[in-house]
Order: sequence, then C-alpha cells, then structure tokens
Amino acid sequence: MNSFFFGIYPYIALSVMVIGSIARYERDPFTWKTSSSQLLRRRQLIIGSVLFHVGVLVIFFGHLVGLLTPITVFDALGISHGAKQLLAVVAGGIAGIMALIGGAMLLHRRWIDPRIRKTSSLADMAILIMLLAQLVLGLGTIFVSLQHLDGHEMTKFMAWAQMIFTFRAGAAEQIADVALIFKLHIVLGLTIFLVFPFTRLVHIASGFFAPLRYLFLRSGYQLVRSRRRRPLEERRRSAEPRAAGARAATIPHGTAGGAVPSAAE
Ligand code: HEM
Repeated sequence: MNSFFFGIYPYIALSVMVIGSIARYERDPFTWKTSSSQLLRRRQLIIGSVLFHVGVLVIFFGHLVGLLTPITVFDALGISHGAKQLLAVVAGGIAGIMALIGGAMLLHRRWIDPRIRKTSSLADMAILIMLLAQLVLGLGTIFVSLQHLDGHEMTKFMAWAQMIFTFRAGAAEQIADVALIFKLHIVLGLTIFLVFPFTRLVHIASGFFAPLRYLFLRSGYQLVRSRRRRPLEERRRSAEPRAAGARAATIPHGTAGGAVPSAAE
C-alpha cells in the first residue's frame, strides 16, 4: 500500500498530468482556458481570487523550493533544518490561510449565484473543493510539524520528493512512518496533479508557458484592444467638427472650401 501510493502513484499522476495536458492542448486548444465568469459578482471574485491566487502561488513556490532543493544546499548556506521547518510553518501557514479564505469566497460565489452555478461544470466545483480540502489537510500538518521543530521529519519529505524526481528506488520507504495527515495530504496533492488536464487548472500552464511562447515562437501575434469606452466610430465622428474648425482657422481668409481637401477625401 505504502509502496503503491508513494512509489508508483506519483509517476502515474505526473504522467497523466503531462501527457493529458499535451493531448488536450493538441486536440481541443479552444477548451484551454479559465472559463472566466468575471462579469458576475465581480467584487467577491476580485477579493476571493486575489487572496486565493497569492496564497496558492506562495505555497506552490514554497513547496517547489522546499521539497526539491537538495538538503546540502541549505547546509552550505548555513540554514539549519529547524529554521527551514519554522519558515515552512510560518510562511506556508499564512499563505495557506489566505488561500483558504479566498478559496472559500470563490466556492461560495460559485455555489450560491444561480447564474454562475449554471455555467459551472462538475469539474469546476470538484477542483475547487479538492483544493480547499488540500489546504485544510496542509494546514492540519502544521500541528504535527510543531511537535518536531528540529526539522528532522521535514528532511524525510525532501528525500522522498527528490528520489521520485530523480527516479531512484526506495522513495516510498523514506516516508513510511510519517503521520497519516501528511500521507493524506500527499495522496490528495498527487490526485490534483492527476486530474489537472481535465480541469480549468490547465490555465496554470499558460501562466508559465505563454510568455515563453510569445517571446520565442509567435511574437507578433499579440492582439491589443483599447480600454476606451466609446467606440472608435463615435470618437472619429466627434473629432470631425473639431478638425474642420482647426483647418478653417489655418486657411487664409476668402479661400475656405477651395483647394483644401476635406477629411472625407
Ligand atoms: C503532491 C503535491 C504536494 C505535496 C507532496 C505536498 C507536501 C507537503 C508537505 C510535506 C508539507 C509539510 C511541510 C512541513 O511543514 O514539513 C506540506 C504542507 C502544506 N501544504 Fe502541501 N503538498 C502538496 C500539494 C499541496 C497543494 C496543492 C496545496 C494547496 C492547495 C498545499 C498546501 C499546503 C499547506 C497550506 C501546507 C502547510 C504549510 C506548510 O508547511 O507549508 N500542498 N505539503
């Protein structure tokens, strides 16, 4: 059981995430979007969305650096395991609470507004609930982490993650004896990776790849729209009399309407 969930399941989840995302991008490129509902309940969306995204981004980069940086790098920098553990608990805890509040606002908005609910798919609801559950489990791990602030337990997760990413055998054994809440958190985290290509989470990949794609592959394809509210035609029409007046002022007396071409020409 332990070997399956922490030795094999990570590879299944990561493979489905990568291959599934490429397949979706190739097969249905027009479904690759956040399916924004920003026209509705805008205020709640903005506050909830900012809290959620800032929190989740801090957690994402915290997990990435915290789990995948070789422990020897922290040792070389003179950062003790205890200090790293404390940083994970404090920074991760604050970011986790922000993301939880923001995520709850987003779920509330999606759940109670009949129009947003109607345009939400099962996957939209399910992924939000999964992320909230993951945040609750993650925050729950803090209570266990506080009992071993020397950082010893944390080095087990680092060894596990690094062995998985470098395809080394024996990864699952590294975390065989950790508390159940950590295991539940990791399995749900991997399940979020697994369902990634089938949800609106795919927009995360755009956040990372779109700038690169724009810079290196398709520069020149940017579409720029004016934020001015009045349509172009209306602005042009109202500018017309002013332009005509300015022309008349510059034409010497008695020659107006003569050889000067009109705007229509
Ligand atoms: C497979 C993916 C994931 C793995 C392997 C993972 C692993 C971990 C581990 C080992 C800890 C404990 C760190 C420590 O204090 O020693 C932790 C904490 C936490 N995780 Fe995750 N996690 C994953 C995904 C996520 C996701 C997707 C979220 C948010 C949506 C999240 C939110 C949190 C939070 C809020 C904490 C508590 C604060 C902290 O210690 O940073 N995790 N995670």
